[in-house]
Amino acid sequence: MTSEAINTDTYWETAAQAVDWFSPWHTLVNTEDGPGAKWFDGATCNTCHNAVDRHVAAGGADRAALIYESPVTGSEKTYTYGDLQKEVALLAGVLAANGVCKGDRVIIYMPMVPEAVFAMLACARLGAIHSVVFGGFADHELAKRIQDATPKLVLAASCGIEPSRVVAYKPLLDSAIKLSSHKPGCCIILQREQLKAELVEGRDIDWAEALLSASPHGVVPVAATDPLYILYTSGTTGAPKGVVRDNGGHMAALTATMQNFYGVGAGDVFWAASDIGWVVGHSYIVYAPLLVGATTILFEGKPVGTPDAGVFWRTVEKYKVKALFTAPTAIRAIRRDDPTGSFIKKADISTLKALFLAGERADPPTIEWAKAELNIPVIDHWWQTELGWPALGVPLVGADIHIKTGSAGKPVTGFTVLTLDEASRPLPTGEMGDIVIKLPLPPGAFPALWQNMEGYKKAYFSKHAGYYLTGDAGYIDDDGFVYVMARTDDIINVAGHRLSTGDMEEVIAGHPAVAECAVMGVSDPIKGMIPVGLAVLSSGAGVDTAVIGREIVTRVRDQIGPVAAFKHVGFVKQLPKTRSGKILRATLRKIADGETVVTPATIDDPLTLEYARNAFKGMGLG
Ligand code: COA
Ligand code: AMP
Repeated sequence: MTSEAINTDTYWETAAQAVDWFSPWHTLVNTEDGPGAKWFDGATCNTCHNAVDRHVAAGGADRAALIYESPVTGSEKTYTYGDLQKEVALLAGVLAANGVCKGDRVIIYMPMVPEAVFAMLACARLGAIHSVVFGGFADHELAKRIQDATPKLVLAASCGIEPSRVVAYKPLLDSAIKLSSHKPGCCIILQREQLKAELVEGRDIDWAEALLSASPHGVVPVAATDPLYILYTSGTTGAPKGVVRDNGGHMAALTATMQNFYGVGAGDVFWAASDIGWVVGHSYIVYAPLLVGATTILFEGKPVGTPDAGVFWRTVEKYKVKALFTAPTAIRAIRRDDPTGSFIKKADISTLKALFLAGERADPPTIEWAKAELNIPVIDHWWQTELGWPALGVPLVGADIHIKTGSAGKPVTGFTVLTLDEASRPLPTGEMGDIVIKLPLPPGAFPALWQNMEGYKKAYFSKHAGYYLTGDAGYIDDDGFVYVMARTDDIINVAGHRLSTGDMEEVIAGHPAVAECAVMGVSDPIKGMIPVGLAVLSSGAGVDTAVIGREIVTRVRDQIGPVAAFKHVGFVKQLPKTRSGKILRATLRKIADGETVVTPATIDDPLTLEYARNAFKGMGLG
């Protein structure tokens, strides 16, 4: 079954008119090198110029560009496009003075502060390639990214603020640099007043001091096909995948989505309540709103608890937000704390035209609740780090906003989406299969994995020739609506955060007392899923499972990060496996979720299901 939206050369040529190019392309889309299409090949441009300088040159210097709203620190500040240009040019000057040139990598390990946005744009200004690492990842994960991206320089903050604690970033950075065999030459550290960091002599530079002696740097032209950034995302192994984004195609695609999907343009206020460490943050906190001259909100806080479940609606009222984008988990958390929507009723949210949800499956009860309380369209839309912008959804633009609750929508212009069976045959409507996208992928989708073209082709393009494998399974209905139901690999979504259970298994298996283990994504009413582990102890290991359990939980938190939310591990004599030795993870997940389980015909020892049932019961599951 195919579900198709228009994807014409004219569409992308028109979209590209919204971008300032320094020189034109000779080939709109070059597919000579296989699946990694090169859009706007031959053109030169600069993303920072288009996101910042262009608006200033067109008389928009006084228009609000970035609003920093930080309930966790009690601060707020608005930066106009003129302010943004000054901040970014100066920081680019600092980077250049420290040896950063076009093509160099820069790691950004920062919380949701304006300087993090300046950092991304300053890299773009110089043609340097940024790689933002989410603050909820610990040193080992940061080290993997430093190792792979080999950055010349790191930009970091001394700390991040979580509702329950101040997170010291700098010790994690120092430890990550120790763990990595690649050592960045220099770290520029933003000292936040909540916790100052100790600087390493000869390597670390104080951010504020560096700015004092800096001169503003101009925009460096780059090829449309040059990388703008690398964003690491969970793959099926412990090694994260370095998703590469280009400059030209990315700008054309993001501009088109703002105009044609979200219905947001210059002067509108757009709020993506995500984090700059994720693709949603890259695309819709930073680049897309700025590319169209809109105002973007950078929110340092949570949907609940900072200070309450009304903070989203008060922020919408305060800044006259036109469209809000968040993860379903945030709405579930708000609903849990304010089931009657009392905070919504207290705020004037009349400027809000739609709520967009993505990052994980939006469960129908959550959508229905939000629709009833907000009285605006609640639009589920589906995409991935790899794609960079929504592939399925229902555009807010247009007269007929037809939504089917439970479906992530129809293909957005640029994507032809199909469901295939194991033999690559299109499936009839209603039948579950691999969700794939027909090649070539549109502008803005990833043309490569960083320095890993072989892995790129193997992971995404080898199973079904001529199609991109999304890793999601689902079905398409008679009206062309696509239902995204599950992952086909070991990736799980925890509070909208994409994580690999394989990665967690590697960390747990590293515990000296563990012989083998399995991690499953188990349903959670707020986070959608949480990881739960089962482990088999090696013979001769200590028998105090309470102690070993605590050590395992700490190990995952220390090595992957608190964001993994790994809190449950149980112990079994043996894991349920097929006769060929494959762990029956899907069966385990069903048991943990309390679903009825038919003993698989291929199981080696049915008794192992009983062991698992007892272990899950011990954790309050099943
Ligand atoms: N830096 C350091 N630690 C971080 C962090 C960051 N940037 N982000 C999260 N963490 C930590 C949290 O402090 C928490 O630690 P804890 O175990 O000590 O409490 C842990 O990671 C899990 O955090 P989180 O996923 O935020 O869960 P929570 O229980 O604190 O809050 C929600 C639950 C639903 C409110 C929260 O997950 C949320 O706002 N989700 C929205 C997700 C989102 O926007 N995703 C982006 C996709 S669009
Ligand atoms: P990420 O790369 O972090 O954006 O995660 C992408 C994955 O999140 C997808 O492959 C899906 O598994 C899941 N996902 C994102 N949005 C949705 C959605 N609207 N419905 C269902 N799953 C989603």
